[in-house]
Amino acid sequence: MRVLITGATSGIGRQLALDYRAEGHEVFGCGRNPAALQELADAGIHPLAFDAGERRQVLESLAELASLDLVILNAGSCEYIDHPRQFDGALLQRVMQTNVIGVGYCLEALLPRLAPGSRLALMGSIASELPLPRAEAYGASKAAVAYLARTLALDLRPHGIGVSLIRPGFVRTPLTDKNDFAMPMRVEATEASRVIRRELARGVAEIHFPKRFTRLLKLLGKLPDRAWQRIALKGLKR
Ligand SMILES: NC(=O)c1ccc[n+]([C@@H]2O[C@H](COP(=O)([O-])OP(=O)(O)OC[C@H]3O[C@@H](n4cnc5c(N)ncnc54)[C@H](OP(=O)(O)O)[C@@H]3O)[C@@H](O)[C@H]2O)c1
Repeated sequence: MRVLITGATSGIGRQLALDYRAEGHEVFGCGRNPAALQELADAGIHPLAFDAGERRQVLESLAELASLDLVILNAGSCEYIDHPRQFDGALLQRVMQTNVIGVGYCLEALLPRLAPGSRLALMGSIASELPLPRAEAYGASKAAVAYLARTLALDLRPHGIGVSLIRPGFVRTPLTDKNDFAMPMRVEATEASRVIRRELARGVAEIHFPKRFTRLLKLLGKLPDRAWQRIALKGLKR
């Protein structure tokens, strides 16, 4: 297969790129960090350097690519709103620019390169299942990604392109290493990669893991907001 992964220079995307390469696939790994891109090249992965939030960079970097069998739009960032009464609109814009608008630029460049029988995967998060403290920007961006994925699944189906939405719980990566709160049932990036690759091969539409954690969040997400707020605020006090 010819596989393209954004955010391949770190964390989940890097692990996916290395594992697909180890399975013998031709892999295109995207990111910004030059040293990490060089490491990908040393591992036999084609490096592609661009900022996902910069339309011209995205379109120019991906212009020469031939057809692809699997595209995983995984690049993303997470920033929390620490003081809700001093809402940081620039933070919201930064997170949206990478996590949502950047996905749009990649779709613009890559959808014409996906042939019937290919698969597109978008990286969401189980965080968008319910309101979580300080996650106004991140959660909203991943809710947008989830809607995008479900709508693309509808519109691309007649074109023979399968769409998957990936919604992890906590995975140990540089992104979550920065968190200052408990992260129940956090899994390693190797485990995340194993589950994602297995489920993408099966054509699963919504890939979420670890199941014990993500099923619980899905259940809590069905509660009326007032009931969930009581639980969340009690948890915060502890
Ligand atoms: N870790 C978790 O628990 C978790 C849970 C749910 C969902 N996710 C999602 O999974 C994805 C990967 O997260 P991760 O935990 O592996 O994070 P990570 O280790 O911080 O990796 C993030 C990747 O995204 C790339 N990236 C970020 N901003 C970019 C931009 N503007 N342009 C191009 N590339 C950019 C980074 O590339 P450079 O460093 O080269 O810029 C890096 O390769 C994200 O979408 C995240 O929201 C993670």
